[in-house]
Amino acid sequence: MAPARTVAALAAAALVAHVRATEVFLPPCLDPFQPFVYSGCFAEAQGTQILPYRSPATPDDMTVEKCVAECKGNGYRYAGLVYYGVCYCGQTVNGQLTTEDQCNTHCKGNETQSCGGNGAFSIWSDPTFPSEAATIEDYDPIGCWTDDSPLGRALVYRQDSVDGSTMTTEKCLKACHAGNFPFAGTEYGGECWCGVVIGNDTRPADQGECDMSCNGDPSEKCGGRGRLNLYAADELLSLEPCGYEPPQPSSSTPATTTTSTTSTSSSSTSTSTTSSTTISTSTTTTSSAPCTTTTVIPPTCEYKCGKWCSNPLPDWNDSEGCKGAWSHCALQVASCFKYAGFPDVLDCFEFSQWCTDVSSYCNAKPGPKGYRKDDFWGKKPPKSGNKPVTSTITVACPTATSTKTSTTSTSTTQTPVPPPTNICKPVTGNGYPIGDIPMPVVTCNDVSSDWPKYPFKLYNHADTRKCSKFDRNNFSNACLNACKEQYDECIEVYAEGCRQKKSPSKGFGWPFWRRDAEGKSYFEFNANSVEKRTFGFGWTDSYNDAKNKCYRQYAECQRLNKYLSGRDKCPAYGRW
Ligand SMILES: *[C@@H]1O[C@H](CO)[C@@H](O)[C@H](O)[C@H]1NC(C)=O
Ligand SMILES: *[C@@H]1O[C@H](CO)[C@@H](O)[C@H](O)[C@H]1NC(C)=O
Ligand SMILES: *[C@@H]1O[C@H](CO)[C@@H](O)[C@H](O)[C@H]1NC(C)=O
Ligand SMILES: *[C@@H]1O[C@H](CO)[C@@H](O)[C@H](O)[C@H]1NC(C)=O
Repeated sequence: MAPARTVAALAAAALVAHVRATEVFLPPCLDPFQPFVYSGCFAEAQGTQILPYRSPATPDDMTVEKCVAECKGNGYRYAGLVYYGVCYCGQTVNGQLTTEDQCNTHCKGNETQSCGGNGAFSIWSDPTFPSEAATIEDYDPIGCWTDDSPLGRALVYRQDSVDGSTMTTEKCLKACHAGNFPFAGTEYGGECWCGVVIGNDTRPADQGECDMSCNGDPSEKCGGRGRLNLYAADELLSLEPCGYEPPQPSSSTPATTTTSTTSTSSSSTSTSTTSSTTISTSTTTTSSAPCTTTTVIPPTCEYKCGKWCSNPLPDWNDSEGCKGAWSHCALQVASCFKYAGFPDVLDCFEFSQWCTDVSSYCNAKPGPKGYRKDDFWGKKPPKSGNKPVTSTITVACPTATSTKTSTTSTSTTQTPVPPPTNICKPVTGNGYPIGDIPMPVVTCNDVSSDWPKYPFKLYNHADTRKCSKFDRNNFSNACLNACKEQYDECIEVYAEGCRQKKSPSKGFGWPFWRRDAEGKSYFEFNANSVEKRTFGFGWTDSYNDAKNKCYRQYAECQRLNKYLSGRDKCPAYGRW
């Protein structure tokens, strides 16, 4: 037979040749899936690996179907068979298309099929990958994760081509992107790892454990000891991974619980019809039904402003839960101003507005869906954070009786939070707060183990465990600290904003302040920059006037809060 070829996306070999794999073998895909498409006979260039993953399956009874199922089960895009049926998988094909007569050895498991030749590979490709080319901007940070468990690495392809002593996040993402790897991770200051799946025993870790600076850029973090800063590019993942079930018109099982807005893209674009030369994969093994475990990992960075990430809001399904989520949101506003960095910090006004939108949603009449996080998300999606990650692992069931689909969502451990009402005294009226930058909220401590020693907390970090806490005798100090942080943010955001606004056209107009059609002022970097920020107030002060206003507010804040007592506030944990 002479199958027509599909055009395979073949990447340059350079980087992939230098990877070292510490392999983890997942079982073959036993679920039905879209058949792979024949891409041609490829010759391996000398000194390179055409496909890096060698399947542990024995060549003795190898068929095209078996090899393809191995690669599908392990998340790879390409399957390659060589020399009577040794099976390889990979994300890119690092070889040259050659003539069909080079693939002249049959498969040991089915003599009518071609299984490559001596140094020549029969290559098959998974048609369910997105067709648009991904860029390194498509990698979203998904937080700090454990690595190197006894069960294997989180990501198996170490990138030795990138010099560890000059490692940066970008260099690592570039290397993983060049290899078409959907996952990338930096570790221990100078290691770069890539993978097509995240290893079985990989768990979320505290962001603080990924605190090693990158060897090539001290301002960036490159993981820690046994800890990976992980990045994921959905654009490089199959739209129909093993275990994928096409949407049914009347499905009885609803979608996963956590944030469903981002998952909509995967269903519509995926039906590419690959006719003629497709082979049907082995769906005949009915006795051992596969078990599919789908894990939806909530985004670690739900809403992003510059260097700051919000802590994801808890899921809610009623009005009370919604109000809890609003508190959770509003208590993070100060941390946004504190950590985002100029000029991205200007986006914190939008974040603050977004929290207010949550509150409006909780207090409005319920829609047909009641009060639900995914409903709100559909209306007001969070800005520029990353998406939830869905990972699906298919394994043969131990007792081959029934097909079980379990959906676990590892939600962030959520403690109830108090309402975001400041129990200190903010300066108000007469144009205060300056620049609309609120005084950080001080209220009851939400961490039960801190009680009864530290009943108060200054909510100045997105992770409430890292906020400053105060004992009962030190309540006014908590408020004075809040005054000081408001002052710092006033200088960094308001005074700095005024300063830059006053000198608009240096060099290439960097930055510009403009007005949009609705009269809102916005802030724009030079012409080829996409950054553009809107907010609706006029800042007209000079830098010095702005600084003086910040200072006057600070002095007034200190006066109001100096002698406050915390005696009758926050009497017990949970009573707020
Ligand atoms: C062998 O492969 C051919 C071509 O793909 C197929 O038609 C046939 O059913 C296979 N035979 C077995 C026993 O799987
Ligand atoms: C993943 O690891 C667990 C133990 O932590 C093990 O029971 C399970 O079989 C592993 N799954 C796979 C697919 O390797
Ligand atoms: C609503 O959410 C809470 C907490 O997440 C859960 O315990 C409860 O069962 C949910 N109720 C319904 C009706 O889904
Ligand atoms: C009060 O809090 C400040 C930090 O703001 C700390 O330096 C001081 O030691 C605390 N005083 C007492 C008595 O706990």
